[in-house]
Amino acid sequence: MSLTELSSKPEADNSVLQIWGKQTLKGHVKISGAKNSALAIMAGALLCPDDFRLRNVPSLVDVTRMGQILSALGIKLERNGDIVDINARDIGESKAPYELVSQLRASFFAIGPMLARLGVARVPLPGGCAIGARPVDLHVRGLQSMGADVQIEHGMVHAYVTGPNPRLKGAKIYLDYPSVGATETLMMAATLADGETTIENAAQEPEVSDLANFCNSMGAKIRGAGTNTIIISGVPRLHSTDYNIIPDRVEAATFLVAGAITHSEISLSPIVPDHLTAAIAKLRDIGAKVILEDRDCLRIIGAQSHMATDIETLPYPGFPTDMQAQFMALLTLSEGTSTISETVFENRLRHVAELNRMGADIRVKGNHAIVRGVSMLSGAPVVATDLRASAALVLAGLAAEGKTTIKGLHHLDRGYDNLEDKMRRLGAKLQRVQDDAVADEAATAPATASVE
Ligand code: UD1
Repeated sequence: MSLTELSSKPEADNSVLQIWGKQTLKGHVKISGAKNSALAIMAGALLCPDDFRLRNVPSLVDVTRMGQILSALGIKLERNGDIVDINARDIGESKAPYELVSQLRASFFAIGPMLARLGVARVPLPGGCAIGARPVDLHVRGLQSMGADVQIEHGMVHAYVTGPNPRLKGAKIYLDYPSVGATETLMMAATLADGETTIENAAQEPEVSDLANFCNSMGAKIRGAGTNTIIISGVPRLHSTDYNIIPDRVEAATFLVAGAITHSEISLSPIVPDHLTAAIAKLRDIGAKVILEDRDCLRIIGAQSHMATDIETLPYPGFPTDMQAQFMALLTLSEGTSTISETVFENRLRHVAELNRMGADIRVKGNHAIVRGVSMLSGAPVVATDLRASAALVLAGLAAEGKTTIKGLHHLDRGYDNLEDKMRRLGAKLQRVQDDAVADEAATAPATASVE
């Protein structure tokens, strides 16, 4: 099947997710490949002039969109299960299509590899989750220090290298902030540059290391990924590879919270325990038991009641912003007052209003949310405001009394591979229905047996 046809769910439908809360979860869940790795690595496809294979690619709308962008640039992709074969021998276009890039911020990261391979790239300014201004100045300044001319006009970033041999040049780059995307863009651009590039104050996220490992498996020379200084010695050409994407630590953390918030015992694999250090520490802090059962398998045993804690989101290895909303859902039901400070994005607390609709007691002051634990949440109609907010509402729905109905599922489908199915197998009661069916109050909960 062509990757560009593959969509796990319809993108713009009017379906809603109904959840009947208070079910105890039980069993094992398989964690999919990491969304953020897959997206960056797919952008990295532009660097490789040979065929190559990616394994453990999650089935997500964002991955489909990235596939469509690569197709529009002339790249061929073929998907079979979680394997994607990519042929980027002939890149026919140096301009990424606006309609697609505007829906997916990660597609902007293609500017680095495209510029490195073709000497020219035209990429519209990106969209993505509505969680702040999300500028691309660090990407642009880094490319400029590598010798690129960059013009931004009419919402389009046009980057090019002039001269008879249009090749980027190695440079010393200091990032004002350890941006994940800027680190990835510049690291990819530097793989084919002339000379050595150093990125100081680089992002240390596992997905950056995964991208570096992928590039190295194609013959790139990248050292230091996973630390705050990355050194890239440019090579003239990369070659074919067969690469396995790491497990999704945000999906794993979402399931850990699902276990805690429903006071259940579940296990998950594959995971990389080190990638979950901050999440595991917070879960233990509030009284949940998290046990490393095997090298790549975790078990969570939720406590009957959890205690409050404070969370501040930070670049890795700090507490991830992508897990903030899910932990907020959990803390709404924990005893005492928790403070959550969102320092990475300036507008990432929009789920507060929706959680409050379900009976939570959360007040926002600037980028801090003060969460006073309540004894119960009650199911309500709510709207997902971004990707991780949608997961937080699912978690709140699992713990709430009665029925929760979540709208805005296109956010959920962007980043979770079969979340509903995986939850259902654990014993959650939930179903996706068309909106008009929701209006019909005769709609009743499915029997437990039918949702297994
Ligand atoms: C990536 C992740 C996203 C995660 C985020 C932070 C992908 C596809 N997405 O997004 O899930 O939430 O890291 O861990 O990997 N910034 C600038 N100028 C820039 C770039 C970023 O000011 O040029 C700011 C952003 O506005 C934001 C902060 O830096 O406030 C962090 O952004 P960044 O690390 O770049 O996030 P993304 O790479 O977009």
